[in-house]
Amino acid sequence: MQKNKYILAIETSCDDTSIAILKDNKVLSCVVKNNSKALNEFGGIVPEIVSRFHAENIIEATEDALNESNINIKQISKICYTSEPGLVGSLFVGKIFAETLGLSLNVPVYKINHIHGHILSPFINSEPIFPFLSLIASGKTTSIYLVNSPIDIVELTKTVDDAVGETFDKIGKALGYPYPGGPWIDKNFDINKAVLKFSNQKIENNFSFSGIKNKVITLINNKKQKNENLDIVEIGSSFMKWAIDTLISKLSYYSKKFGCKTICIGGGVASNSYFKSEIKKIFDNSFIPEKKYATDNAAMIGYLCYLINL
Ligand code: KG4
Repeated sequence: MQKNKYILAIETSCDDTSIAILKDNKVLSCVVKNNSKALNEFGGIVPEIVSRFHAENIIEATEDALNESNINIKQISKICYTSEPGLVGSLFVGKIFAETLGLSLNVPVYKINHIHGHILSPFINSEPIFPFLSLIASGKTTSIYLVNSPIDIVELTKTVDDAVGETFDKIGKALGYPYPGGPWIDKNFDINKAVLKFSNQKIENNFSFSGIKNKVITLINNKKQKNENLDIVEIGSSFMKWAIDTLISKLSYYSKKFGCKTICIGGGVASNSYFKSEIKKIFDNSFIPEKKYATDNAAMIGYLCYLINL
């Protein structure tokens, strides 16, 4: 592997515009311009609005990342960007920016898979330990992977409908929290108030979150219609405990099935406080990304580019 390479990484798959500069596996800067305040007005993501947000912010984010890392743009030796999966307009802004910059600097430009970036994110600034099981839980994805190397990643299970983060956000909206609801439900979590019981999913089935979403939102709407007391902490905490317990039981099932004891989590929901504490309690060898690398960020894109030695 060639050392001392400066990588410029671009992430624009959803609502965050992020640019990172890495020197090999070390992150020198990672700038994230977040669009959620603007989206709060609409209660969620509007693809056309986020594409425009990326187009307006990407140059400033790049300048900020270069300034923070004390790197001149001419020192960049490769560029990488998130090519999939994501919102097509948002991905396109990143792709056009990456290719134009690559042409003007005369450096190679590489495509990186966003989910694979999340999967390796717990090891940013160090080296990964293979094999490991990875659970990616975000606003778009809820899947478990067996990871043998940065290029040998096998999906074992996924959600058949809503993603867990999306479910947090929709229930959060019904409870009256701002977008995204996940961090708010977490902030107000009280384990002693997680008293409402919901049925468990069959462990060998794929994840499914639309049933719980409908059940909880119907419960909230019924209470509102009947003018009954709405205990948002009780409902939010009961849902959160159920959702996180569901994620953890599936991880335990695959850990036993594959005899794999190294466990990683990633994606926005990996910053959930109860999730992190339970993972540390249950699995001896667990890796959780730093908060800033759990949600969408370009550092994980650059780090994967380094690992696969492009
Ligand atoms: O990975 P991410 O930044 O990107 C998207 O998939 O868009 O994840 C965002 C998701 C949102 O659904 C958000 O509500 C959820 O992660 N999230 C959380 C927490 N922090 C972020 N969910 C539960 N608890 C949290 N502390």
